[in-house]
Amino acid sequence: MYNFGVPAQLKNWIDAIARNGVTFHYTESGPKGLLADKPVYIALARGGLYRGTESDTQVPYLKAVLGFLGLKNLHFIYAEGLNMGPESVAKGFAQAEVDLAAAFA
Ligand SMILES: Cc1cc2nc3c(=O)[nH]c(=O)nc-3n(C[C@H](O)[C@H](O)[C@H](O)COP(=O)(O)O)c2cc1C
Repeated sequence: MYNFGVPAQLKNWIDAIARNGVTFHYTESGPKGLLADKPVYIALARGGLYRGTESDTQVPYLKAVLGFLGLKNLHFIYAEGLNMGPESVAKGFAQAEVDLAAAFA
């Protein structure tokens, strides 16, 4: 997370792959994703704590844009609190391990 959003590098990548007529298209009944659905694993590293709060703009955004392309099987792995001291870092990475195990269960 950079300044409450996805880093510019990730945004650039999304802008490169979200292409009308290539990865999505518009039909009479609305937009349709053209990517074959397959699992997507998304690792979220954050200095603070946002999971499950309204300030977490990343997860709804990524669900919206990836879903738009046809990718619905999303797994989010959270490492949070990484700028909040050593105990918080340990907790953040322990949670990431839990999320990883769940994602690949
Ligand atoms: C430019 C910049 C902006 C950041 N903004 C946030 C933020 O809004 N919220 C947050 O929790 N952490 C923020 N952080 C901390 C990063 O999310 C955290 O350090 C994360 O581990 C960075 O991952 P990376 O090493 O893959 O870049 C920011 C870090 C940078 C460099």
